Amino acid sequence: MRHFLSLKDFSKEEILALVSHAAALKKNPQKLLVDKTLAMIFEKNSTRTRMAFELAITQLGGKALFLSANDLQLSRGEPIKDTARVIGGMVDFVMLRVNRHESLEEFAKYSKAPVINALSDLYHPTQILGDLLTMQEFQKEGKIAFVGDSNNMCHSWLIAASILGFEISIALPKNYHIRPEILEFAKENAKKSGAKITLTNDKFEAIKDKEVVITDTWISMGEEEQKEQKIKDFEGFIIDKEAMSVAKKDAILLHCLPAYRGYEVSEELFELHSEVIFEEARNRLFVVKALLCFLEREKR
Ligand code: CP
Ligand code: NVA
Repeated sequence: MRHFLSLKDFSKEEILALVSHAAALKKNPQKLLVDKTLAMIFEKNSTRTRMAFELAITQLGGKALFLSANDLQLSRGEPIKDTARVIGGMVDFVMLRVNRHESLEEFAKYSKAPVINALSDLYHPTQILGDLLTMQEFQKEGKIAFVGDSNNMCHSWLIAASILGFEISIALPKNYHIRPEILEFAKENAKKSGAKITLTNDKFEAIKDKEVVITDTWISMGEEEQKEQKIKDFEGFIIDKEAMSVAKKDAILLHCLPAYRGYEVSEELFELHSEVIFEEARNRLFVVKALLCFLEREKR
């Protein structure tokens, strides 16, 4: 049995096959998981991820159970390892959106059902799958820039790029750093895959000649108290028409959403690229379907 906690444990071939299956399911929906059940545990808010998972399992012929962490005994102190054995013993898949990545690891250790990371502080791997499908649809290959914070989206893109052999340039403010163990993992992988990794504090340098520009909120869920400080730290990091003008002609802008106009992206640029961005959001549905099918096959 396999879990999906980060892209680290997946090969290039597996990731590409998953995205291809998602594209096939988008064209030709199939009921491949009839009567299967998915528990969805949320410690944080969600619009897209909840929709994508609930609709994916439903359209595949199964059923989802939405479980707010606040309503579970978990929030009254029941240990994760007991919750995992109860929930993982009753359903076919469990997805969790958690504050701390360690919670996912602990859950996966005790769950009899495959566990999926639906966002943690460290990674957001299902978002990357959706982004990859979007890149494929808009015929973009592997030259990407990430401009934003050094957390879940940035880490996941770095891991994905290092496995897939992409050229990735990441622009972070001064004093923002990628966790050493994640950077190390990516650099090791890059030796095998041929990926090219560049880190900079200059958004123009990162974006120059790229075919895909990716950004994310400066204030992630749970960081609301740091809002003022982070806005100061990210001054000048907005992706606007001027920043995008140094990218390759016809470059696309990806944003996992929600988007905060006037901060990480300008209203004008966001609306110019909104067709791609909302297809990116919709693509989560198809990649989640492919992921659930993949994890089901891996049980055998
Ligand atoms: N991109 C994303 O994961 O959106 P939600 O937080 O709305 O699920
Ligand atoms: N970095 C953002 C991603 C939201 C999908 C957050 O963690 O809130």
